[in-house]
Amino acid sequence: MGQTIRFGVSLNSELLEKFDALCDEKSYQTRSEAIRDLIRGVLVQKEWEQTDKEVAGVLTLVYDHHTSDLAQRLIEIQHEDHEVILCTMHVHIDHHNCLEALALRGPGESVQKLSQKLISTRGVKYGKLTLATTGQEIV
Ligand code: NI
Repeated sequence: MGQTIRFGVSLNSELLEKFDALCDEKSYQTRSEAIRDLIRGVLVQKEWEQTDKEVAGVLTLVYDHHTSDLAQRLIEIQHEDHEVILCTMHVHIDHHNCLEALALRGPGESVQKLSQKLISTRGVKYGKLTLATTGQEIV
């Protein structure tokens, strides 16, 4: 990791007020922490677009396990791409709904393709892939 460098940022007072309120709401101790996270988020997104690099993230799915064959289909898709799945967690939210969290790691393209296959499976009510980074070259 490189050395820490301080730099000044010029901002319109109205924008800064809104930013400070956001930092407060999101429990950031300092503006620097919030700005670092924002920059990391943009960089992760950029890396994500260069899909041959390795990425890591968590895919969240919500579905009704009573939907015919859905749980079975989701398992089959996961087995087809098992090499990018580190682990899965299954939570029975209520009588009908299941929440599944999959920790993923692999080439961006593979992680993205698997996530999209699962999210777009008929009957999946919610799906979101969240990327993680160490702040260095992606993971
Ligand atoms: Ni369940």
